[in-house]
Amino acid sequence: MRVPIQLLDLGEQYTTIRDEVDTAIRRVVDSQRFILGEEVEVFEQALAAYLDDGREVVGCASGTDALLLSLKALGLEPGDEVIVPAFTFFATAGAVWNAGLKPVFCDVESLYFNLTARTVEAVWTERTRAVIAVHLFGQMAVMDELVALAESRGATVIEDAAQSIGATQEAMEPPGPNPETPARGGLAAPRGIATALSFFPTKNLGGFGDGGAITSADPGFVAKLRKLRVHGGHKMYHHEMVGTNSRLDALQAAVLAAKLPHLAEWTEARRLNAVHYQEELADISEVISPYVYWGNVHVYNQYTIRARRRDELREHLTEHGIGSGVYYPVALHLQECFAGLGGKRGQLPVSEALCEEVMSLPVYPELGTERLLRVVSAIRRFYA
Ligand SMILES: Cc1ncc(COP(=O)(O)O)c(C=O)c1O
Repeated sequence: MRVPIQLLDLGEQYTTIRDEVDTAIRRVVDSQRFILGEEVEVFEQALAAYLDDGREVVGCASGTDALLLSLKALGLEPGDEVIVPAFTFFATAGAVWNAGLKPVFCDVESLYFNLTARTVEAVWTERTRAVIAVHLFGQMAVMDELVALAESRGATVIEDAAQSIGATQEAMEPPGPNPETPARGGLAAPRGIATALSFFPTKNLGGFGDGGAITSADPGFVAKLRKLRVHGGHKMYHHEMVGTNSRLDALQAAVLAAKLPHLAEWTEARRLNAVHYQEELADISEVISPYVYWGNVHVYNQYTIRARRRDELREHLTEHGIGSGVYYPVALHLQECFAGLGGKRGQLPVSEALCEEVMSLPVYPELGTERLLRVVSAIRRFYA
């Protein structure tokens, strides 16, 4: 058998940046300063400059905590409802639960895999206080209508961009008399009060362990987050609120800062791989390639197809030494731990169908044409 193709090969990327990353790690070890401090501040500022959307960056311990801290900072009442998509990673809903709030699951759109204003509205109740818009697999959910809906009902939107660092969306509104209204075709600013990012190693910007960040343009919200991540106060042993320990390690910040200058080029390589797959898979009628919404820049944390006889196709790929993944096999309203919320099979049909059909193919930046074509030809042979 030829050399296997993994779904993701982190080692290959590391060999290309070993010196920069090792130097950064050595610097932190020599300093013996491991918690917050200058390394974290430098990374937070570098990331804010990279994202260039007028928002501050607050590092924290993980993407899960980025959601949890954001929810806590909203100051909602126990039992208030937060709408989340049923088709996402568990953390989106787990954070809601752990913040003492009630996750309410909505369906997603079948081509883009994201929630929409329509699917959110379908589950809205008088206790809805917030919505978490997950930008799944690297593509933003359509924000304009969603934010308009939430604003009209006095609710807040948080963005879960754990899988979509650097993804953008064009503004849909025509230029208005208000200079702050973005022109059609211009980039829409992030629309939620806060955006949660993850630096889990498999993310497009991955650390050497767990890490996360929240971005927000609201100074009051940012100040709250900075307190919440250190037990709820900025003066040692004085606590204005009950926070937690959720700091970004200096070691992780140093690694991430060393990797950040490469992110644009890695994202471009992912996008080129995606275009190549799209072209090569176009004539295989059993496979549906991911759609990109008008005006979206997709950053392809995953290249997720819908495939007929998905499980058999995956077995076939495994036999040919090709890795794949299923994100996600069980919709969240059907998870055992949420049984008490009363979710029923058939309730959110698109999410449930996607769990049976989706699979992700290798799309990492270093994949290269030869390996990508091996993946395609193995798929072609399966359906031949
Ligand atoms: C959509 C989504 N939300 C939240 C998270 C949680 O991030 P972390 O693993 O850094 O806690 C992830 C991570 O996989 C994710 O994919």
